[in-house]
Amino acid sequence: MTRRVETAVLISGRGSNMSALIEAAKAADYPARIRVVVSDKADAAGLALAKAEGVEAFAVDTRGGKAAYEARLDEALRARGVELICLAGFMRILSPGFCEGWRDRALNIHPSLLPAYKGLDTHARALEEGAREHGCTVHFVTPELDSGVIVAQARVPVLPDDDEKTLAARVLREEHKLYPAALAKVALAMRAGLALTPYEAR
Ligand code: GRF
Repeated sequence: MTRRVETAVLISGRGSNMSALIEAAKAADYPARIRVVVSDKADAAGLALAKAEGVEAFAVDTRGGKAAYEARLDEALRARGVELICLAGFMRILSPGFCEGWRDRALNIHPSLLPAYKGLDTHARALEEGAREHGCTVHFVTPELDSGVIVAQARVPVLPDDDEKTLAARVLREEHKLYPAALAKVALAMRAGLALTPYEAR
Protein backbone atom coordinates (compact mmCIF):
# COMPACT_ATOMS: atom_id res chain seq x y z
CA MET A 1 0.00 0.00 0.00
CA THR A 2 1.19 3.53 -0.72
CA ARG A 3 2.42 5.61 2.16
CA ARG A 4 -0.17 7.69 3.99
CA VAL A 5 0.66 11.09 5.42
CA GLU A 6 0.43 10.85 9.21
CA THR A 7 -2.09 13.49 10.25
CA ALA A 8 -3.21 14.96 13.57
CA VAL A 9 -6.57 16.66 14.01
CA LEU A 10 -6.73 19.40 16.64
CA ILE A 11 -10.15 20.16 18.10
CA SER A 12 -11.81 22.09 20.91
CA GLY A 13 -15.42 20.97 20.62
CA ARG A 14 -17.95 18.75 18.91
CA GLY A 15 -15.60 17.53 16.20
CA SER A 16 -17.92 17.14 13.23
CA ASN A 17 -15.16 18.08 10.77
CA MET A 18 -12.83 15.70 12.59
CA SER A 19 -15.41 12.94 12.12
CA ALA A 20 -15.63 13.75 8.40
CA LEU A 21 -11.84 13.43 8.13
CA ILE A 22 -11.79 10.13 10.03
CA GLU A 23 -14.59 8.82 7.80
CA ALA A 24 -12.82 9.85 4.58
CA ALA A 25 -9.54 8.33 5.75
CA LYS A 26 -11.20 4.91 5.96
CA ALA A 27 -11.03 4.64 2.17
CA ALA A 28 -8.22 2.32 1.15
CA ASP A 29 -6.80 4.84 -1.32
CA TYR A 30 -7.04 7.94 0.92
CA PRO A 31 -3.55 9.50 1.08
CA ALA A 32 -3.64 10.52 4.77
CA ARG A 33 -4.10 8.61 8.00
CA ILE A 34 -5.68 10.20 11.06
CA ARG A 35 -2.96 9.22 13.49
CA VAL A 36 -4.22 11.16 16.53
CA VAL A 37 -6.83 13.66 17.70
CA VAL A 38 -5.73 16.24 20.26
CA SER A 39 -7.90 18.72 22.12
CA ASP A 40 -7.15 21.67 24.35
CA LYS A 41 -10.28 20.79 26.31
CA ALA A 42 -10.60 17.52 28.22
CA ASP A 43 -14.40 17.55 27.78
CA ALA A 44 -14.45 18.14 24.01
CA ALA A 45 -17.18 15.88 22.63
CA GLY A 46 -15.00 15.02 19.63
CA LEU A 47 -12.52 13.10 21.81
CA ALA A 48 -15.07 10.39 22.58
CA LEU A 49 -16.13 10.22 18.93
CA ALA A 50 -12.53 9.71 17.83
CA LYS A 51 -11.90 7.01 20.42
CA ALA A 52 -15.06 5.22 19.32
CA GLU A 53 -13.51 5.12 15.85
CA GLY A 54 -10.35 3.59 17.26
CA VAL A 55 -8.27 6.76 16.87
CA GLU A 56 -5.97 7.75 19.71
CA ALA A 57 -7.45 10.90 21.26
CA PHE A 58 -6.57 12.97 24.30
CA ALA A 59 -6.35 16.48 25.69
CA VAL A 60 -3.06 18.26 26.25
CA ASP A 61 -2.93 20.24 29.48
CA THR A 62 -3.06 23.98 28.75
CA ARG A 63 -1.82 25.12 32.16
CA GLY A 64 1.47 26.92 32.70
CA GLY A 65 1.26 29.44 29.88
CA LYS A 66 1.17 29.32 26.10
CA ALA A 67 4.83 28.39 25.57
CA ALA A 68 4.64 25.42 27.94
CA TYR A 69 1.35 24.28 26.41
CA GLU A 70 2.63 24.48 22.85
CA ALA A 71 5.83 22.65 23.78
CA ARG A 72 3.74 19.78 25.19
CA LEU A 73 1.51 19.77 22.12
CA ASP A 74 4.48 19.81 19.74
CA GLU A 75 6.15 16.98 21.63
CA ALA A 76 2.97 14.87 21.59
CA LEU A 77 2.63 15.32 17.83
CA ARG A 78 6.28 14.70 16.95
CA ALA A 79 6.47 11.66 19.24
CA ARG A 80 3.72 10.10 17.10
CA GLY A 81 5.38 10.83 13.80
CA VAL A 82 2.79 13.42 12.81
CA GLU A 83 3.63 15.11 9.51
CA LEU A 84 0.57 17.29 9.00
CA ILE A 85 -1.88 19.03 11.33
CA CYS A 86 -5.55 19.76 10.60
CA LEU A 87 -7.12 22.36 12.85
CA ALA A 88 -10.84 21.59 13.02
CA GLY A 89 -12.70 23.89 15.37
CA PHE A 90 -9.54 24.40 17.41
CA MET A 91 -10.23 27.61 19.30
CA ARG A 92 -6.71 28.71 20.17
CA ILE A 93 -4.41 31.06 18.32
CA LEU A 94 -1.07 29.34 17.86
CA SER A 95 2.10 31.37 18.42
CA PRO A 96 4.34 32.45 15.51
CA GLY A 97 6.98 30.00 16.79
CA PHE A 98 4.60 27.05 16.67
CA CYS A 99 3.33 28.09 13.23
CA GLU A 100 6.91 28.34 12.00
CA GLY A 101 7.67 24.84 13.31
CA TRP A 102 4.75 23.48 11.27
CA ARG A 103 5.03 25.84 8.32
CA ASP A 104 3.34 24.32 5.25
CA ARG A 105 2.34 21.38 7.46
CA ALA A 106 -0.77 22.78 9.15
CA LEU A 107 -4.24 23.38 7.71
CA ASN A 108 -7.31 25.10 9.11
CA ILE A 109 -10.96 25.18 8.11
CA HIS A 110 -12.72 28.50 8.43
CA PRO A 111 -16.46 29.07 7.98
CA SER A 112 -16.35 31.90 5.45
CA LEU A 113 -15.11 32.64 1.96
CA LEU A 114 -11.76 34.09 3.01
CA PRO A 115 -10.54 36.78 2.90
CA ALA A 116 -14.09 37.79 3.90
CA TYR A 117 -15.02 37.48 7.59
CA LYS A 118 -11.81 36.44 9.29
CA GLY A 119 -12.22 35.63 12.99
CA LEU A 120 -15.41 34.75 14.86
CA ASP A 121 -19.17 35.00 14.19
CA THR A 122 -18.80 34.65 10.46
CA HIS A 123 -22.40 33.62 9.77
CA ALA A 124 -23.89 36.49 11.77
CA ARG A 125 -21.62 38.97 10.02
CA ALA A 126 -22.47 37.61 6.56
CA LEU A 127 -26.20 37.95 7.35
CA GLU A 128 -25.75 41.41 8.82
CA GLU A 129 -24.01 42.63 5.69
CA GLY A 130 -26.63 41.10 3.43
CA ALA A 131 -24.11 38.82 1.69
CA ARG A 132 -25.66 36.85 -1.18
CA GLU A 133 -23.04 34.16 -0.99
CA HIS A 134 -21.14 32.55 1.88
CA GLY A 135 -19.09 29.40 2.38
CA CYS A 136 -15.97 27.87 3.84
CA THR A 137 -12.25 27.81 3.23
CA VAL A 138 -9.39 25.41 3.94
CA HIS A 139 -6.07 27.26 4.18
CA PHE A 140 -2.53 26.80 5.43
CA VAL A 141 -1.90 28.09 8.95
CA THR A 142 0.33 31.13 9.34
CA PRO A 143 0.88 33.41 12.36
CA GLU A 144 -1.65 35.87 10.96
CA LEU A 145 -5.14 34.58 11.74
CA ASP A 146 -7.13 33.07 8.83
CA SER A 147 -4.67 34.46 6.28
CA GLY A 148 -2.52 31.62 4.91
CA VAL A 149 -2.53 30.29 1.35
CA ILE A 150 -5.95 28.95 0.37
CA VAL A 151 -6.18 25.27 -0.55
CA ALA A 152 -9.91 25.03 -1.35
CA GLN A 153 -13.22 26.82 -0.94
CA ALA A 154 -16.89 25.85 -1.19
CA ARG A 155 -19.71 28.32 -1.79
CA VAL A 156 -23.33 28.31 -0.64
CA PRO A 157 -26.13 30.78 -1.34
CA VAL A 158 -27.49 32.94 1.47
CA LEU A 159 -31.28 32.51 1.29
CA PRO A 160 -33.81 35.22 2.18
CA ASP A 161 -35.16 33.37 5.22
CA ASP A 162 -31.79 32.36 6.62
CA ASP A 163 -30.86 32.89 10.22
CA GLU A 164 -27.49 32.11 11.75
CA LYS A 165 -28.50 28.51 12.40
CA THR A 166 -29.76 27.63 8.93
CA LEU A 167 -26.82 29.35 7.27
CA ALA A 168 -24.30 27.66 9.58
CA ALA A 169 -25.86 24.26 8.84
CA ARG A 170 -25.65 24.84 5.07
CA VAL A 171 -21.99 25.85 5.35
CA LEU A 172 -21.17 22.96 7.68
CA ARG A 173 -22.50 20.42 5.18
CA GLU A 174 -19.99 21.83 2.69
CA GLU A 175 -17.19 21.85 5.28
CA HIS A 176 -17.64 18.12 5.73
CA LYS A 177 -16.97 17.55 2.02
CA LEU A 178 -14.37 20.27 1.55
CA TYR A 179 -11.98 19.36 4.36
CA PRO A 180 -11.51 15.70 3.37
CA ALA A 181 -10.96 16.78 -0.26
CA ALA A 182 -8.48 19.49 0.74
CA LEU A 183 -6.56 17.18 3.07
CA ALA A 184 -6.32 14.61 0.28
CA LYS A 185 -4.99 17.26 -2.09
CA VAL A 186 -2.31 18.41 0.36
CA ALA A 187 -1.36 14.87 1.39
CA LEU A 188 -0.97 13.80 -2.24
CA ALA A 189 1.21 16.83 -2.93
CA MET A 190 3.32 16.11 0.15
CA ARG A 191 3.74 12.51 -0.88
CA ALA A 192 4.84 13.58 -4.34
CA GLY A 193 7.18 16.25 -2.92
CA LEU A 194 5.27 19.02 -4.69
CA ALA A 195 5.01 22.61 -3.49
CA LEU A 196 1.55 23.93 -2.66
CA THR A 197 2.53 27.19 -0.98
CA PRO A 198 4.85 30.04 -1.90
CA TYR A 199 6.98 29.16 1.12
CA GLU A 200 7.67 25.71 -0.24
CA ALA A 201 8.42 27.02 -3.69
CA ARG A 202 11.37 29.05 -2.41
C1 GRF B 1 -16.53 24.76 12.01
O1 GRF B 1 -17.55 25.59 11.55
C2 GRF B 1 -15.18 25.24 11.52
O2 GRF B 1 -15.23 25.85 10.28
C3 GRF B 1 -14.81 26.25 12.57
O3 GRF B 1 -15.28 25.73 13.76
C4 GRF B 1 -16.37 24.84 13.52
C5 GRF B 1 -16.01 23.53 14.12
O4 GRF B 1 -17.06 22.61 14.08
N1 GRF B 1 -13.38 26.53 12.53
P1 GRF B 1 -16.79 21.08 14.37
O5 GRF B 1 -16.17 20.99 15.76
O6 GRF B 1 -15.89 20.56 13.32
O7 GRF B 1 -18.15 20.44 14.34
